[in-house]
Amino acid sequence: MKKSTFLAVALGVCASLPSFSFRPPTMGWSSWNTFALNINEDVILGQAEAMVKTGLAKAGYKYINIDDGYFLPHDKETKLLGVREDRFPHGMRYVADEIHKLGLKAGIYSDAGANACGGSKDIGYYGYEVEDNILFFDTWDYDFVKVDYCGGRQLNLDEKEQYTKIIQAIRDNVKKKDVVFNICRWAYPGTWVSDWADSWRTTGDIYCAWPSVKAIIKENLYLSAYTHDGHYNDMDMLEIGRTLSQDEEITHMAVWCILSSPLLIGCDMSQIPEFSLNLLKNKELIAINQDVLGIGAPVVQRNGEVYVFAKDLKKVRGKERAVCVTNLSDEEQTIEVSVENIGYEGNISVRDIVNHKLVSASVGGKFKVTVPAHGSQVFVTKGALRCEPKKYEAEASWMKCYQEISGDKTATYMPSDKSSGGAIVTNLGHNKENYMEWKQVYSKNGGDYEMTISYITGEERPLAISVNGETPRIEKLKGPNWESVVTKTVRIKLNKGMNTIRLGEQDTWAPDIDCIQLSAI
Ligand code: GLA
Repeated sequence: MKKSTFLAVALGVCASLPSFSFRPPTMGWSSWNTFALNINEDVILGQAEAMVKTGLAKAGYKYINIDDGYFLPHDKETKLLGVREDRFPHGMRYVADEIHKLGLKAGIYSDAGANACGGSKDIGYYGYEVEDNILFFDTWDYDFVKVDYCGGRQLNLDEKEQYTKIIQAIRDNVKKKDVVFNICRWAYPGTWVSDWADSWRTTGDIYCAWPSVKAIIKENLYLSAYTHDGHYNDMDMLEIGRTLSQDEEITHMAVWCILSSPLLIGCDMSQIPEFSLNLLKNKELIAINQDVLGIGAPVVQRNGEVYVFAKDLKKVRGKERAVCVTNLSDEEQTIEVSVENIGYEGNISVRDIVNHKLVSASVGGKFKVTVPAHGSQVFVTKGALRCEPKKYEAEASWMKCYQEISGDKTATYMPSDKSSGGAIVTNLGHNKENYMEWKQVYSKNGGDYEMTISYITGEERPLAISVNGETPRIEKLKGPNWESVVTKTVRIKLNKGMNTIRLGEQDTWAPDIDCIQLSAI
């Protein structure tokens, strides 16, 4: 919730430090997936002990999060939240103290409205924003809160207003610093969220079966731009250690790691199968998740239902990258991964970090990857030469007004077979703020470029193009129909290093955008 003082140096990483104070994705356990409403003091403290005994705590998992089911309605006079003494006979402070004694951190649960998703009434923050925050963090000494929205929805509250009111109450009234705040609104709420919360759920609830894991991955394919500066899309709690197949568990862990989702174990840690335990403790996967850059990984290549994600590790445009090849189809697939697509030119080394082996030490051009049905291969790549990217997909851009809640016509991505990457950006423009932006357009030397815009429109529409914050210039773009992708090439000037390219239109709707391609003149 507050930008933490936990600096990258504390991770022992001697890399270039990000310019913000950094907190990695939350790692821990949550009671919901296995125990649902059937929680009590013994269950919670038993799991805390198991987290230490299994070595999961040593691997980095720290938070023991109590989900729905511990509370009773607020007392109208004292304004105090009730606790189910039949389940927590020593009270909630005692539980947090016991968790802390094990060197772990404690998490609690509430709702932005009055009622909880599990049916409890009058237990939520609504009307008790200050009182409940003081209770959770100062009186009870919890370190994390997940704030659900069933009650908020029942009261028809405005998400931004109510969540920011609760977080402002923490900032103004709570003595404890570094409280971790998780929003559980089951959809991307809007770009305001990264100024306020540490993480936010992007989808409905996960359940322990492949279709659920696959659906959540698909809903997160194009949200990487919104995970940044140490604030994260939360893909929901892990179902590893329950009934998924080994390949499915690898995909679950790999994609959650490369997209920098919080890692909250959801199984019973006292009886976790060895394969799952080793996967959850995989040091190299965890390092990708906890990486000091705190960023997500865009899709850099797609072959049917096989997606390749890639992101920098340790240093922006440094030598090292994480690459995950995920097969969402029901058949084994072999694809060729392009070295250029994953960000390099020349030779690279490719290390498989799930099977702990060097796959290839001097790959030039392309390399073959075979991935089982529902499986993933995860690599750390190293190469001295990074390429200057030529193509920027629209669906990987950051859209200022992007949100999945209000139903307002704001810029959004939409699957499209005709597009180069599998999706286009639609509903762009009509408002100065409703723009899309690539914030990291890299130029080796700077100078003049041709920028080819691939777009779709059935009528003449203007597009405002602005590079590095300069006054936008308006191009009038024509297209034959709403089916075909057409192109227009314009000249732009880029600075040496990173640039920002913004597309939008303040008065009328802009064309739909597929991608931009750059070539130095
Ligand atoms: C909602 C949340 C879940 C869980 C339950 C508890 O469905 O999305 O993660 O917290 O409520 O009732």
